[in-house]
Amino acid sequence: MLKKLFSREEIDRAVKRLATEIENDYDNEQIIFICLLKGSFMFTADLIRKIRNPLRVDFLRASSYGCGTNSKGEVTIGKDIEEGIESENVIIVEDIIDSGLTLTRVRNMLQEKNPKSLRICALLDKRARRKVDIEGDYVGFTLEDGFVVGYGIDYAEEYRNLPDIFVIVGE
Ligand code: IMP
Ligand code: MG
Repeated sequence: MLKKLFSREEIDRAVKRLATEIENDYDNEQIIFICLLKGSFMFTADLIRKIRNPLRVDFLRASSYGCGTNSKGEVTIGKDIEEGIESENVIIVEDIIDSGLTLTRVRNMLQEKNPKSLRICALLDKRARRKVDIEGDYVGFTLEDGFVVGYGIDYAEEYRNLPDIFVIVGE
């Protein structure tokens, strides 16, 4: 069963707040947003439309190994970025930070390309479930445990089309 956790209006307000924080931090410098596929595509699309800095968008597909609701720690890169990011301001856009293993791997990989700056913007942060020390620089919502779907986020590839964010309760 799905229980609504964040409405589209709440999401819109959170995304607007993140966009304002980012605009304030980067003055009018160029930013390259790296959208982590697939879960962040909707969030990225909304976020960048609220930011007036000169910006570019690129996409990276990193999959935590295995299916189900738990990251196993092994991360494979399915699609790499195409933009050069050396000496650029880079913001990784992630849907959810859970154990933090995926993002740590991605961040380390991107850091090797020597960006000018590298930050993380996450819509959702499950801080209590962290297994490695990594924080979002811009975070939309913090939540406790629970598996969420909607607004681009899936369970077994379903529910990405829902405009609100839901938590799966029961079976
Ligand atoms: P981590 O490596 O454990 O931090 O895994 C993070 C990734 O797992 C996220 O980018 C999501 O793709 C996925 N994930 C974690 N929690 C959820 C959830 O509640 N719903 C859907 N996907 C999730
Ligand atoms: Mg993801």
